[in-house]
Amino acid sequence: KLLRRTKMRKVIVCRDLGTDAMGILRACEDIELVVWPENRPCDRTWLLDNVTGAEGVALMLSEKVDDELLDKAGPSLKVISTMSVGYEHVSLPALMKRGVRLGYTPDVLTDAVADVAVLLALMATRNVKATTSIVENGQWPESTWAPFSFCGPQLSSGLLPSLAFPAPGTPGTSSNPSGESTERTVGFLGFGRIAQATLARLVAFGARKFIYTGNPNASASSLQSSSAADIELATKHNLPQNAITRVSIESLAENSDVLFVLAPGGPSTYHIISHELLARMKPTAVLVNASRGSLVDSDALAQALGEGRLWGAGLDVVEGEPKVSSDHPLVKEPRCVILPHIGSATFETRRAMATLTARNVIAGVRGEPMPAELDL
Ligand code: DGY
Repeated sequence: KLLRRTKMRKVIVCRDLGTDAMGILRACEDIELVVWPENRPCDRTWLLDNVTGAEGVALMLSEKVDDELLDKAGPSLKVISTMSVGYEHVSLPALMKRGVRLGYTPDVLTDAVADVAVLLALMATRNVKATTSIVENGQWPESTWAPFSFCGPQLSSGLLPSLAFPAPGTPGTSSNPSGESTERTVGFLGFGRIAQATLARLVAFGARKFIYTGNPNASASSLQSSSAADIELATKHNLPQNAITRVSIESLAENSDVLFVLAPGGPSTYHIISHELLARMKPTAVLVNASRGSLVDSDALAQALGEGRLWGAGLDVVEGEPKVSSDHPLVKEPRCVILPHIGSATFETRRAMATLTARNVIAGVRGEPMPAELDL
């Protein structure tokens, strides 16, 4: 009787990906799994020791993919599958040189990250860091409520009712044009899926004016106008045709009341939020970064906040994370809210990301189309 033996494909998994994803991987009879056993980022030495002969590696932001790792893996390696939409930790030239494919997790985390972007904008505008710490430290002021205590700029856009009493017989004041306008210009550095999902949320907050810079090196002729895609997006959200406009990065900084940084990391966007750009921003504006810390010059941001040249900042990511000590100049800023990179951290989203990571690596080692492959 002939026994047909399937060739076992070695796959390294750098962290337990949870019941669903691990179940999918374990059910593959052609895959020999090697899983980092601890609940912390996998040791680089463990990875280098185990990766030789692997056909696939499933990893996350904590694992750097570079020439050293790929050389150690050797020619058997077909795919890297990262449990992230961002790939700043992966050297694309190193992959391309060797013909190794890259799986990633777009789409499934768009909503979760957009939720956090709005959360950060609200937290930064409304002084949530300073005010929650007042409560936590038992410093609730004696006169609990004072006319202008703890105020910040309003995120929602619209027209507040007139401050004047209406003349007898006039209709209600809610659309009175003499009311205080809170119209906000919302800016996006990067205008991909997450930025557009954030825009959708802010439409519900009354925002009607959106500006963005996609590629900071865009030619001048394509600026200050709405493209067909912008008009289509505006129409989808019942906005005026010119509600969404591509602008230069300088104009983005100067005109945004809230500036969302939602562009990929990497050398081309390193410190794109620079001292010079921050100097152009309104003192009432808020900066939100939910992409990668490397896009923002942390020292320049801390200085701008410290000198009152910017109202506040909401950061889900910080340069040098996770090594962000409590002495970090941004951590010390009362109007800088920092979250420890939790943008995609919902149970539903993380399960979907883990499952997609597993499916990508399986398809990659088998030489099949991956559910989500980055075009290299
Ligand atoms: C990603 O997937 O790149 C996110 O930053 C993780 O939350």
